[in-house]
Amino acid sequence: MNSTLPKTNRANILVVDDTPENLRLLAGILSEKGYQVRPVPNGKLALSAAQKMPPDIVLLDIMMPDMDGYEVCQRLKDSEVTKDIPVIFISAINDVMDKVKAFAVGGVDFITKPFQVEEVLARIETHLKICSLQQSLQEKNQDLATAIHQLQSTQEQLIQSEKMAALGQLIAGIAHEINTPLGIIGSSIDNIANFWDDNLAKMPQFFQELSEESQGYFLSLLYRATHQETLFTSREKRKFKQQLTSDLRAGSVKNAEQIADTLVDMEIYDNIEKLLPLFKLPDWEVVFNTAYQFVSFKKSVSLIQRATAKSGKVVFALKSYAHFDSKQEKIQANLHDGIETVLTLYQNQLKHGIEVVKNYGNLPKIVCYPDELNQVWTNLIYNALQAMDYKGILTIETLLQEANILLKFTDNGKGIPPEIIPKIFQPFFTTKSAGEGSGLGLDIVRKIVEKHEGTIAVESVPGQTTFTVSLPIY
Ligand SMILES: Nc1ncnc2c1ncn2[C@@H]1O[C@H](COP(=O)(O)OP(=O)(O)OP(=O)(O)O)[C@@H](O)[C@H]1O
Ligand SMILES: [Mg+2]
Repeated sequence: MNSTLPKTNRANILVVDDTPENLRLLAGILSEKGYQVRPVPNGKLALSAAQKMPPDIVLLDIMMPDMDGYEVCQRLKDSEVTKDIPVIFISAINDVMDKVKAFAVGGVDFITKPFQVEEVLARIETHLKICSLQQSLQEKNQDLATAIHQLQSTQEQLIQSEKMAALGQLIAGIAHEINTPLGIIGSSIDNIANFWDDNLAKMPQFFQELSEESQGYFLSLLYRATHQETLFTSREKRKFKQQLTSDLRAGSVKNAEQIADTLVDMEIYDNIEKLLPLFKLPDWEVVFNTAYQFVSFKKSVSLIQRATAKSGKVVFALKSYAHFDSKQEKIQANLHDGIETVLTLYQNQLKHGIEVVKNYGNLPKIVCYPDELNQVWTNLIYNALQAMDYKGILTIETLLQEANILLKFTDNGKGIPPEIIPKIFQPFFTTKSAGEGSGLGLDIVRKIVEKHEGTIAVESVPGQTTFTVSLPIY
């Protein structure tokens, strides 16, 4: 359709009638009113005239030889060029069914002959106006569509820049999170290298000169120092040091305070009666100090192990962002088995002061990524232990509810303040000290749960925090 509005008084009208007098009459009236009129005597000429130069409106007789008005109208409507041109039938036929047919083939109006000139003019004017209104509506629609399109692309740009900002944040977080363990690894390796430089040359002589008795103490120190699992706070450690100092003094050991300090450093906190005779031996100092060096060596190794595990966690989070593990296949698994595995892995942290209460329901196996779900249980359990300072009750409840498995992990720790609950699932959000928490745990949890088309919810008041994972069984 033309984009310019037709000027109604100069509109271009195609008049089609096989009766020459009618044609002349109509053409005369309309020309007089200022319209541009093209009179044609039959359907065929009407169609080719309309194709060559589409009129603004067509006045069409019905009864014509060869091709009647209905067919002409039908053909006009079938052509892309002429389909929107309003067609007014003008005919002596006055049967309702004929009028209905005129509208059915696409006519917009029907004027019965003989006609009143005013009526014809009024109807033409009306249809030209409707037509021009339609055109302007279409143009407005077009404008609106363009505006919507522009909005959409602006929105996409906004989302894109939002994503870039989020990515930047993520990268900054990752850089920090990888840098911290790298720093720990670096300094631990320095310690190990120094140990090597300082001790290697002395070692053969040390072991040769070591009496059987001293050897026993040496090994006992190493064993105790490397088999201490519980983590204590510095306040608890200060208490141990005081107790050790007085125990040593009671055993009349000289330098009691200094020795107690080193023992705490080695994570030997109590039961030192059996060690007391060591400090009376002539070579106690070299035995004790060498044991301390070995223990420090072992400590550096553990630090490296932990730091490596930590950077592994960051990489795992990254991979889950990039959906890296898509090669992996889902398998049927029993969720209780996974939880039990995790509890076994945490046995050392659990056995001193955590009571685990299990309320396991009867669960069907589900098709899932069991290794990834183990990450979920690990993070939830580990958070619970940290929240309880490794002392309290961890309740694990599982049940089947309609087509979902619910797994609830409840701890009686300090709880989560309501104002931070909306943030805990964000990557790198943590309330823990640097080195203790990276803030990725719950982000990983949520991603894995969503990958299983499940949901996770949290409810918390001081003394009772529950994370509920819901997984569909199908
Ligand atoms: N059971 C819980 N009780 C109290 N607070 C919790 C609990 N679980 C999570 N939180 C809070 O949510 C925060 C985010 O937890 P998230 O597991 O994502 O990170 P994180 O434990 O701090 O570090 P990471 O898991 O990477 O070692 C925690 O720092 C803590 O403040
Ligand atoms: Mg955590």
